[in-house]
Amino acid sequence: MTVPNPVGRPLVELAGVSKAYGDVVALHDADLVVRRGELLAIVGPSGSGKSTMLNIMGTLDRPTAGLVRIDGHDVSRLSDRELSALRAGTIGFVFQQFHLAPGVPALDSVADGLLYSGRPRGERRRLAERALRRVGLGHRLRHEPHQLSGGEKQRVAIARAVLGDPPLLLADEPTGALDSRSGTVVLELLHELHESGTAVVVITHDRDIAASLPREVQVKDGRIEHDSAAREATSMPLVPQEAVG
Ligand SMILES: Nc1ncnc2c1ncn2[C@@H]1O[C@H](COP(=O)(O)OP(=O)(O)OP(=O)(O)O)[C@@H](O)[C@H]1O
Ligand SMILES: [Mg+2]
Repeated sequence: MTVPNPVGRPLVELAGVSKAYGDVVALHDADLVVRRGELLAIVGPSGSGKSTMLNIMGTLDRPTAGLVRIDGHDVSRLSDRELSALRAGTIGFVFQQFHLAPGVPALDSVADGLLYSGRPRGERRRLAERALRRVGLGHRLRHEPHQLSGGEKQRVAIARAVLGDPPLLLADEPTGALDSRSGTVVLELLHELHESGTAVVVITHDRDIAASLPREVQVKDGRIEHDSAAREATSMPLVPQEAVG
């Protein structure tokens, strides 16, 4: 039986967020709240600003205007060091192109995600093995990227992203480089992570995938055109700093 997964307090809050690259306004005045335990799609055509939005949500990029809060923290008030720590403890990333180092076995690829965690090597490898088993790759620990299928590579990347159990997983076109069967396996895995409590944001240009998720945010020409949770998200004021924690 699946235990209902309650959606909790905000993990990501974007208020009036814009991003310009010179003359190009990649994102215009975006308001978006992602709460603990959510699963949502950001969908839109190529060039519509999806990756720009995800990179800002992940604090990999800073907005030109607007407010970004991660787990209640206004990121513009944090030092680089504080921001790195917040990101490391809160957000896992998955990208279309796996980003696995060539020649490195799956177990090491994943364990290296904890290199700067201060944990001893044996523990890093034990946790990495557990994460790989969680994504169904317990039988591929020693395989290098060139010995893995596309879907398996993406599962290694997901294992690395969720190793430290972040409350938020941001995935930019995680199935974009996969055939439909491997894509389905990866999507099922994202559903499982969501069911175990992780908030998951999936960027896709596939409308069917987007429509299959509990919440869909449609982006076009740098603007949020439709949010299936809009009433809930926009009528809710930003949570004051004092109320968080
Ligand atoms: N570093 C940059 N410098 C200049 N323009 C950029 C930069 N990054 C993105 N853009 C522009 O911003 C717009 C939005 O780009 P973005 O990558 O967010 O789109 P996307 O929705 O992720 O598209 P795709 O589906 O093709 O990945 C595009 O017009 C793009 O050319
Ligand atoms: Mg993109």
